[in-house]
Amino acid sequence: MTVHGSFPGVRPRRLRTTPAMRRMVAETRLHPADLILPAFVREGIDEPVPLAAMPGVVQHTLDTLRKAAADAVSAGVSGIMLYGVPEDAKKDALGTAGTDPDGILQQAIRAVRSEVGDDLVVMSDLCLDEYTDHGHCGVLTPDGRVDNDATLERYAEMARVQAEAGVHMVGPSGMMDGQIRVIREALDAVGKEDVSILAYTAKYSSAFYGPFREAVGSSLQGDRKTYQQDPANARESLRELALDLEEGADIVMVKPALPYLDILARIADASDVPVCAYQISGEYAMIEAAAEKGWIDRDAAILETLTGIKRAGASMILTYWATEAARRLAR
Ligand code: PBG
Repeated sequence: MTVHGSFPGVRPRRLRTTPAMRRMVAETRLHPADLILPAFVREGIDEPVPLAAMPGVVQHTLDTLRKAAADAVSAGVSGIMLYGVPEDAKKDALGTAGTDPDGILQQAIRAVRSEVGDDLVVMSDLCLDEYTDHGHCGVLTPDGRVDNDATLERYAEMARVQAEAGVHMVGPSGMMDGQIRVIREALDAVGKEDVSILAYTAKYSSAFYGPFREAVGSSLQGDRKTYQQDPANARESLRELALDLEEGADIVMVKPALPYLDILARIADASDVPVCAYQISGEYAMIEAAAEKGWIDRDAAILETLTGIKRAGASMILTYWATEAARRLAR
């Protein structure tokens, strides 16, 4: 390299001198369409219920969910991921409320579709944990282990019911082996070839799901370590990716986001379908909590994490800040 003039001749700071200069050379740009809003809808409530560990996030009624979906559209958000929270009394060992055509999630899908039509990609969590009395993502064997293959049959049924309610994309989050193939086949068999699958491909067993469990009123005792991945492992995410692609995933996802940016980068390199990342409840909670204490610049931290996740390789990001962040990006 030829260095002109006096030392230091190479001055990277020149491209950082003004906001316009920095904007021009930015390699990563966030866009409202990168963002997907996860939303909770709870059965049997008349008013939205705020979540203690997720300030600013609520369990919606069907009415406030419609409003949140309409707000997301007006902010330019591209999708909404719906989670149903059934009445406690409706939870059982098989999670039957999850496959009830009139269950809360199916009502939510219909409500949001009737509100936004095709203006948002309407997605639904395809998992049993919100509906089981033991809180696991699948059904159990008599001795209490999560039964992979029996769970797949429940997921196939869930896929059919959610598709019937009008969902555009299902999001299987249970980490059962073979779930993508079984769901693809179940959808195709009922003429729902156009319903797409967002595969939770690399989903780690994470402490950062804590606030989510409050959000869905989880009954879980213990942990999900026999089905969600060990945070120590990277290579098995590539194996999960290969399987999900082969089984028919339309989009693959890494979750959580911030502690797994290396995984995200590796999956983004290896995937030939779009890659998504989930900025999860604990990632939200820690920024909100630090900001509340005055220890961090909340707004800057939000955009910095989203930018970092995109820079690492995500084409789209599920974030509880989707609508707010989209509005700020549009300014
Ligand atoms: C399981 C599911 C979880 C999340 C999304 N789907 C929790 C878990 O695996 O325990 C977590 C999302 C978040 O923490 O924001 N259905």
